[in-house]
Amino acid sequence: MIIAANWKMNCLKKESTILVNELIKAENLFKTSEVIIFPSFSLLSHVYSKIHSSNIKLGAQDCSFFDHGAFTGQVSVEMIIDAGCEYVILGHSERRIICNETSEDISKKLLKSFPLGLNTIICIGENLQDREDKTYLSVLKNQIKLSLSNFDKLDFNFSNNKLIIAYEPIWAIGTGKVATEQNINEVHGFIKSFIKDYFKTKINIPVIYGGSVNEDNSKDIFKIDNVDGVLIGGASLKSRSFLKIIENST
Ligand code: 13P
Repeated sequence: MIIAANWKMNCLKKESTILVNELIKAENLFKTSEVIIFPSFSLLSHVYSKIHSSNIKLGAQDCSFFDHGAFTGQVSVEMIIDAGCEYVILGHSERRIICNETSEDISKKLLKSFPLGLNTIICIGENLQDREDKTYLSVLKNQIKLSLSNFDKLDFNFSNNKLIIAYEPIWAIGTGKVATEQNINEVHGFIKSFIKDYFKTKINIPVIYGGSVNEDNSKDIFKIDNVDGVLIGGASLKSRSFLKIIENST
């Protein structure tokens, strides 16, 4: 299972040190699952210095689609790798909504992150209106088509890194309203088969679930068919909850 901790815009050095030290102490739990933490850009090097000899992997919450130059405030894929990252999250709904990031932007970022060797998690998810109108599958289809429009340019034969889809229904993020087993099963199955058909590929793309995952509901989520892991927000900031989720994945 993939267990990804999206810290979002939380934690200063001191808190991150405490959190990471507690995770490292319990490292024997990480034998079967891939555990990745995604701190803010400012914490990447600091967190890397604590975890580099552990089994915990590091990731960034975004990257630029430019290589380098006059792009104030942006962080390139090379910089992220230089800071110790093996993963990047692209297209989180908070970036799509707050920063007006489009699926076209995400597609350009994927074309930078994947060829340079980063495991890339692309987030997709419908809002409450789409769910209620029952248009969610076509919304997701559109997000996949556009965010992965460069799929054919990615060389899966020569890369060891993974492309991962995170299904994060917007109505389930930070709301305590987790999607039902049927919701998750239907959508993950749909994403996997749509990618195979649309891009005419045999590559198995892992699909992970995000949205109010916690220590109580994670055991049941891991049992759902087509779930290859979870992307956790709030519950990843408390070591006890996060470690319990990892334990539930094994
Ligand atoms: P919560 O787990 O806080 O709902 O956040 C989910 C998320 O957005 C992870 O990327």
